[in-house]
Amino acid sequence: MQIILAEHAGFCFGVKNAIKLLDDLIKEGEKTYTLGPIVHNRQVVESYEKQGIKAVELDDVKEGNLVIRTHGVPPDVINQARQKGLNVVDATCPFVKRVHKLAKDLSDKGYFVVIIGDPNHPEVKGIKGWCGEDAAVIENEEDARKFYTDKKVGVVVQTTQTEENVSKIMGILKEKLDLAFFYNTRCNATQQRQEAAKKVAEMVDVMLVVGGKNSSNTKKLAQVCKDAGAKVYHIETADEIKSEWFSKAERVGITAGASTPDWIIKEVVAKMEQISKKSDFAEGQIVEGVVEKVTDK
Ligand code: F3S
Repeated sequence: MQIILAEHAGFCFGVKNAIKLLDDLIKEGEKTYTLGPIVHNRQVVESYEKQGIKAVELDDVKEGNLVIRTHGVPPDVINQARQKGLNVVDATCPFVKRVHKLAKDLSDKGYFVVIIGDPNHPEVKGIKGWCGEDAAVIENEEDARKFYTDKKVGVVVQTTQTEENVSKIMGILKEKLDLAFFYNTRCNATQQRQEAAKKVAEMVDVMLVVGGKNSSNTKKLAQVCKDAGAKVYHIETADEIKSEWFSKAERVGITAGASTPDWIIKEVVAKMEQISKKSDFAEGQIVEGVVEKVTDK
C-alpha cells in the first residue's frame, strides 16, 4: 500500500498565531479564558483544559484575560468584554480581520453585503456583526436562487469556503443582482490545503481527512476529496482507523484541517505505516512509505 500525505496539511498560520498567544499567557501564569473553544479540535481544547484554560461564554467570566479565537467576533462583543473589565487578547486571524474590514467598508458606503458562508459558523456570525442591517448570508445554490435585493451589492466570502461553492453561487447572483464588488476572501491556507488535498485524492482509492468533526475547514477538505472521487473517511484521531477500510486500496491519501495539530497527523501516519506493513499485498502492488512531508511552511 502506498501512503501519500498532502503537501499542505495541519495547523495554518492563523491557528499557530492563536496557539502561541495562548501559550505565552499560560507561561506568564495569568488567569485566562477563551471565548468559545480556541480551535475546532477536541484534542487541542482538552489539552488546554488540563492546563487550566477554560472555553467560556462572555456572561460566564468576570476577570482575567479573554482570548478571542481565530474566527473573530462582532465589534459589540469586544466592547462588552472591555466594559466588563476583561483584558481582551485578540487572536482573530488577520485573514478574517480583512473580511471584517471589507464588510464594514461596504456597509458604511451603503452597499448591501452578501456573505457567502455557513450562517451558523462563528466566523460568519462575526463577519455579519461588522455589517449594518443590510446584510445576508448565502450558503448554497438554493439560497442564492431565493435571494433578491434591488440594492447595490458587495460580496465577501467565509475564509474556508471551497472555490467550487463560491463560483456556483456567484454564477447565480451575477445574473440577477446589481453587483458592485466581489471580494473572494477565501484564505491562502484554505486554498493551499484544498488544492493539495484534491491533488492527492485524485491519485488514491481511500482518503483520510484528519480534524475536528465540528471544524468547517476540515469538513470542506472532506468534501473536496469526495468530489475528486476518493472514498473518504473523516477522522479525529488515529484510534478511529479500521484496517478493513483499506482491504482493496492500493493507495491511501492523508490530509488534515487547519486546526489539526502535527502530533495527531504523525500518529495517523504511524498507524497507516503499521497497517501497510501488516497487509497482504497482491503481486505487483506498490509498497512504499510516506512520500511527502507533514509540515506546512
Ligand atoms: Fe486564518 Fe485561514 Fe487559518 S482564515 S485561521 S489562515 S484557515
